Amino acid sequence: MPRLLLVSNRLPVTVKADPRGVTVTPSAGGLATGLSGPHRSSDGLWIGWPGDVSKLKPEQLARVNQELAELKTVPVQLSASEVARYYEGFSNGVLWPLFHYLLHRIPIDVHDWDSYRRVNQRFADAVIAQYREDDLIWVHDYQLTLVPGILRKALPRAKIGFFLHIPFPATDIFRILPWREEILDGMLGADLVGFHTYGYLRHFAKSIVRTLDASFSIDRVPYQGRTIRLGVFPMGIDVAAFEKLANDEDVIAQVTGMREQAKGQQIFLGVDRLDYTKGIQRRLLAMERLLEREPRLRGRVRLVQVAVPSREKVDAYASFRRELEETVGRINGAYGSVGQTPIHYLYRSFSQKQVTALYRAADVMLVTPLRDGMNLVAKEFVASRTDGDGVLVLSEFAGAFAELGEAITVNPHDLDGMVAAYKHALRMPEEERRSRMRTLRERIQRHDVHRWADSFIATLEHMPRAEPLGDES
Ligand code: F6P
Repeated sequence: MPRLLLVSNRLPVTVKADPRGVTVTPSAGGLATGLSGPHRSSDGLWIGWPGDVSKLKPEQLARVNQELAELKTVPVQLSASEVARYYEGFSNGVLWPLFHYLLHRIPIDVHDWDSYRRVNQRFADAVIAQYREDDLIWVHDYQLTLVPGILRKALPRAKIGFFLHIPFPATDIFRILPWREEILDGMLGADLVGFHTYGYLRHFAKSIVRTLDASFSIDRVPYQGRTIRLGVFPMGIDVAAFEKLANDEDVIAQVTGMREQAKGQQIFLGVDRLDYTKGIQRRLLAMERLLEREPRLRGRVRLVQVAVPSREKVDAYASFRRELEETVGRINGAYGSVGQTPIHYLYRSFSQKQVTALYRAADVMLVTPLRDGMNLVAKEFVASRTDGDGVLVLSEFAGAFAELGEAITVNPHDLDGMVAAYKHALRMPEEERRSRMRTLRERIQRHDVHRWADSFIATLEHMPRAEPLGDES
């Protein structure tokens, strides 16, 4: 296997500094676990941002850099202003809401494009500095859309892949972006551009036809003398790891504790980064409506909502948090009692073990994003249900919807439909729950994260090498 150069905004390890010292800890999450195998077996490098290292003393920084090098990672350091402008301002203030169709979350005046361009150039420079002939380069996600284009100019014959982890929006949404040509041209610097679903691929293809006047046939785009391939690679999770955790003694003990503590109440569960795309607000409103309309359920159901802090310095995230906490307060005020509250809202990070215990303790898992590239939480829940029980309620606007048809599906914009789905989940007979879960489990086991990474890499590896423009061959 050729050497793999992985490029993502965040490294699979995060550097954290506090008064007790500095630690380099592995990041959880699909990307880190899914690519760690190919990273290791190809003896490759991972290029990305290690987190804020600006406050480290020189000797601490030297030690951290040494540790990062041993882990075969190459840090791209970002200044505070680059984090504010490239990461918070443009990537998460503009591209994120736009690609998730939430236009009202975009600020009226955007200033951060130049920083986005400069930081993309710095990531590309870091790749160029490491590149050896025959390496495969795999660039990830919306923060780095310009990197393939920059690399193509500097390394015309390199094999470059790009994978978008979030939705690619419909053309009429995408073309709002003043920098639409640059972004498409950047992505088309790759030989292979991958998406989670065929819908996203189709949107991308239509955008290049409309914006760049390029053509498109089935899965090929002839562009600037090269042929770019588009592909659908639905990302999975490390199913075996979740199954192992789900059967861990500590986890089982935690599940028993949670069930005892719920005292016979049925447990609804939501686990999300605190992000306005995740549909948490509507999920709560549907619960409020359920309790309002079905007084017999008051005190008999609870919703445990984990909201993992995320992108807290982006204004839209801070205001969303305030809206959400107000809603939680209102519902608990109206339907709680001295002995119980309907919404258990937990604003913090949890370990993988704790989250797996929550998945196993839940009766009903609510995954109801307004829009989501894939949503791996839905798959983690299914993987954790080694007991074969549990109901998944899934939004039709999550990429995972294309694969998880046995879930109860909902449109999160239809509150009455959501209430009906909650009731359906509560009433579903055990036999039906188990039969749906069996099919869901078989599907995610077949399409796990290792298969996702291997199939993208194999497709890229077997593509013909691009010939530089003007080459006679
Ligand atoms: O879903 C897109 C994504 O960038 C993931 O790759 C990542 O785990 C998540 O969002 C969180 O992003 P951030 O790096 O901004 O915390």
